[in-house]
Amino acid sequence: MVIHTQHQPEKPTEVLNSSTSAEGEKLDSLLRPQEFRDFVGQKAVVENLLVFCQAAVERGDPLDHTLLYGPPGLGKTTLAMILSAQMKTALRQTSGPALEKPGDIASILTNLQEGDILFIDEIHRLRRPVEEILYTAMEDWAIDLIVGKGPSARTMRLSVPRFTLIGATTKASMLASPLRDRFGHIEKLRYYDAEEIQQILTRSAGILEVPLTQSGAELLAASSRRTPRIANRLLRRMRDFATVLHSGEITRSVVEDSLQKLHIDTLGLDYADQQYLRALCEQFAGGPVGLSTLAAAIGEDESTVEDMIEPYLIREGLLQKTARGRMATPSAFTHLGLPPLHTAGTPQADQPSLLD
Ligand SMILES: Nc1ncnc2c1ncn2[C@@H]1O[C@H](COP(=O)(O)OP(=O)(O)O)[C@@H](O)[C@H]1O
Ligand SMILES: [Mg+2]
Repeated sequence: MVIHTQHQPEKPTEVLNSSTSAEGEKLDSLLRPQEFRDFVGQKAVVENLLVFCQAAVERGDPLDHTLLYGPPGLGKTTLAMILSAQMKTALRQTSGPALEKPGDIASILTNLQEGDILFIDEIHRLRRPVEEILYTAMEDWAIDLIVGKGPSARTMRLSVPRFTLIGATTKASMLASPLRDRFGHIEKLRYYDAEEIQQILTRSAGILEVPLTQSGAELLAASSRRTPRIANRLLRRMRDFATVLHSGEITRSVVEDSLQKLHIDTLGLDYADQQYLRALCEQFAGGPVGLSTLAAAIGEDESTVEDMIEPYLIREGLLQKTARGRMATPSAFTHLGLPPLHTAGTPQADQPSLLD
């Protein structure tokens, strides 16, 4: 077995967010629930989806177009796959950035079979001309293509089979409203609670055939940022540490020891999160500071900061986004073990400065 994390990783955040290796991908699909009954949590969403599936089957129609949104790793792709299993249809998978030209989407659409599910990940990143092809496809089961150039150019209407579009996005607000309005169902995935994450960890440990104690699972769940993907990644790293450095069983002390080696703290903040929070609290005195300045200070790009780092910090009450910029909350200082800000000497600190 290859241990990637035995030595201090160059950038420990990779442990949580890296694209996966071939081995990682195999494990990912092994751990991915295949049916609704294995899918933990998101009760309201699952209940709705089951009703929509049943209604579609009873009408003899394809499932209505469905938009799934929420932070990365919460189960959007998994749900799309489960929906295709539930509807007993094929799933064709692509992503917003992969579709470069109208022709790309046109050829996918015309090759679908009646009832198939087309899953477009990161649908907020579709290019406009590609998106426009989807409008008529979703509504009228037809696409209009322009053939030829100059004066001889003409529009050709092609029909497409009645299909279901499932879109996934981390940023529903970035979706153009004509596209958003064409979805029959819009479902928001939420962060999981600790018990649900523990349930997922226990299920995954069973599949991986690695012993995991109750108190080990509890601690691991607390550090998993309420996100199944992170829970599963951490579990695999714990398995590495447990096998090589310990007796093989993932106990609470193995988890404690391994999390420390991975630079993951008790709230599940990884190296990049901690770096971000430290920069905000120490370098910028808790803010307010702009996104671009902060991102530059920690050497990450803005979208990584916005999509990967900030949502969880906000969720945990460590960070606030204000009109004047990012601000650390008092809990952020406490969490970092720093003294509360502006105790003495800076009584004006809460007032906006003229220089902000
Ligand atoms: N509700 C769930 N129950 C069990 N495992 C889950 C659940 N949601 C996600 N997972 C696990 O987390 C991983 C990431 O989920 P995924 O669907 O790829 O997230 P997203 O597409 O939202 O980024 C999956 O491989 C799966 O193993
Ligand atoms: Mg996904």
